[in-house]
Amino acid sequence: MIELKTREIDQLIRAASEARDQAYAPHSHFYVGASLWIPGGEIVVGCNVENASYSLSICAERVATATAVTKGYREFHAIAIASVGGVSPCGACRQFLSEFSNDMQIIMTDVLTGARQIRRLSQLLPDAFDASSLPVT
Ligand code: THU
Repeated sequence: MIELKTREIDQLIRAASEARDQAYAPHSHFYVGASLWIPGGEIVVGCNVENASYSLSICAERVATATAVTKGYREFHAIAIASVGGVSPCGACRQFLSEFSNDMQIIMTDVLTGARQIRRLSQLLPDAFDASSLPVT
């Protein structure tokens, strides 16, 4: 099980906070940035993107994940999420992330205080639904 070093966590949090500056959240005014740590040390970021048709809005975590997949990555060691209050990922994002790495570190950081909480995705989404439940084709 991979555990990021403190210096790597700091770097990942900085990237999430910077990505948060690009958040498009004119409806909720809740701005979120996310950053994924790719094996090897590259970082891929995302921010939330809202829509006037509210349900089309997409969280920062899923934007970062889809961007990383587009770059050819399929495995992630950690994700940092930057917001006011240091929120934890929503249920949809937990499921979305678990497709790739169910034991990745989830680093939740409050941009106002710098406080951080670290969990494993398997703690936030035990007994995840995954491909093992699907019929073999
Ligand atoms: N949001 C995220 O981007 N990530 C989270 O972990 C929680 C919620 C976004 C979705 C929406 O644009 C706004 O925050 C309010 O829910």
